[in-house]
Amino acid sequence: MNRFARFATRHAQRRASIGLVLAVLGLTAVMAAPARAEPGPAPRDFRALPEVAGRSGDVSATLVAAPKDVVVDGVTLHGYVFNGEYGGTVLRVRPGGRLKIRLVNSIDQPINLHFHGSHGSPLGRGDNVHIVVRPGERFDYVMDVPRSQPPGLYWYHTHIHGNVEELVSRGLSGPIIVEGLEDRAPELRGLKQRLLVLKTFSAAPPATGADTADSDPAVRRVHGVVQSVNGAAHADVDMAAGAKELWRISNESANDYYHLSIKGFRFRIVALDGVATARDLPVDKLDIGPGMRMELVVEAPGAGDYPLLSGATLTGLGHGMSTSRELAMVHVTGQAPAAAVAEMGPAPARPMGAPDLRQATISATRTLSFAQRPGEEVYTINGLTFDHNRVDVRVPLGAVEEWVIRNDSDDMHAFHIHQVHFQVVSINGEPQPFDRLLDVVRIPERGAVVIRIAFTDPQIVGRFMFHCHVLKHEDKGMMQMIEVYDPKRPERSAQPPPMPGMDHMSMHEGMDMKP
Ligand code: C2O
Ligand code: CU
Repeated sequence: MNRFARFATRHAQRRASIGLVLAVLGLTAVMAAPARAEPGPAPRDFRALPEVAGRSGDVSATLVAAPKDVVVDGVTLHGYVFNGEYGGTVLRVRPGGRLKIRLVNSIDQPINLHFHGSHGSPLGRGDNVHIVVRPGERFDYVMDVPRSQPPGLYWYHTHIHGNVEELVSRGLSGPIIVEGLEDRAPELRGLKQRLLVLKTFSAAPPATGADTADSDPAVRRVHGVVQSVNGAAHADVDMAAGAKELWRISNESANDYYHLSIKGFRFRIVALDGVATARDLPVDKLDIGPGMRMELVVEAPGAGDYPLLSGATLTGLGHGMSTSRELAMVHVTGQAPAAAVAEMGPAPARPMGAPDLRQATISATRTLSFAQRPGEEVYTINGLTFDHNRVDVRVPLGAVEEWVIRNDSDDMHAFHIHQVHFQVVSINGEPQPFDRLLDVVRIPERGAVVIRIAFTDPQIVGRFMFHCHVLKHEDKGMMQMIEVYDPKRPERSAQPPPMPGMDHMSMHEGMDMKP
């Protein structure tokens, strides 16, 4: 059973609306129809998250990590959250700006911070996951956001190897908006924006015999996980017919894919993992893996109520199960002007702002095999589990490399590397166009993804990580350390000397390196 079961207790007070479809041996049967029975008028508010923004693009914030019981969908999570906000506090910063974050640890485990997608330095007080902030301690991060950081949606989360799944599932994450996406995509100017932070936790199994099958359908029937948008199980969204909005969606769940759709709606992806795409990518389903971000223009059709469904599929052992739950209801009112419902028009091309690496001279090719040790809960890259005393890959600054990333298992893995975005050149041998840069990519089961990475920005010199962003796999070994070194200044990438155990790079006020 799931190890998070112990963090969540059942508390079945509220019925969630849920649509469940079971496909057993190829037969599809509708088992339960949506039945939302909320007394009185439905609350029509979309819950926005609190924000911290600074003048001139710098941000100064204190993030206090503390325990909190969070109730979502009638289920209580014994969470650990920043500033009391399970959904996350939004940090808004500009390229060239600075994130000054005081991290205060008021929980009983070590924590730290990672700025997921940052092109900033992995050294010192920056995006340095070697830092460990012990219980009762605080640490002042100073993360400089490079001018070249692509504007878009990012996130921060704690990154203590061995405990990342637990700490992220319990709530220690939040979104970062690097401002300026509208400069890359001017057609977004003036659109209403909505930020949707998706989080997931697992519910405890029911106490033996204590519950009937229908006492807690949201939890019981949808894979035992509780999903939320901005910390709430259900959101209401009001839109005018024909209106366009920019939705910015961050999947901050530890392990899970989200598959979102709204029947009758059209979506155009404008940015992935914080980077504007070369053109709008039209889709009707949003498949967002753990750690991934998607920014899209959403266009409302004619008046009506449209559920935002979160679907999932499990297959195996001769049967498949697919389920979906309603995460939000989009209430569209008014008349759509004829022009708005007409064709969306040709998508403007946007320069990628980075060279196409298919034409690059490759300095090295590496093969990485993501696998599981047979019969064990041990996940490996090239047969090895993570060791913070071992540097697995050394890359000279300036190199452009090709990495062949294989999934030699039947499980889902999602490759992520810190400090850079990469270009996907093929998936299972199929060449990919240069229309996006990513920082997380799914590696198909028993398949391979070929990526190219430019290690050319002097900012990224140092030791940082790549790993599976299914955090339970990362915790159980599926991570390696890379060192980008400057051949002219080899000492620059050096980290403080390793010490045994969790303290290997602990930095706390007192043994300090004041900026
Ligand atoms: Cu979002 Cu190393 O992770
Ligand atoms: Cu994995």
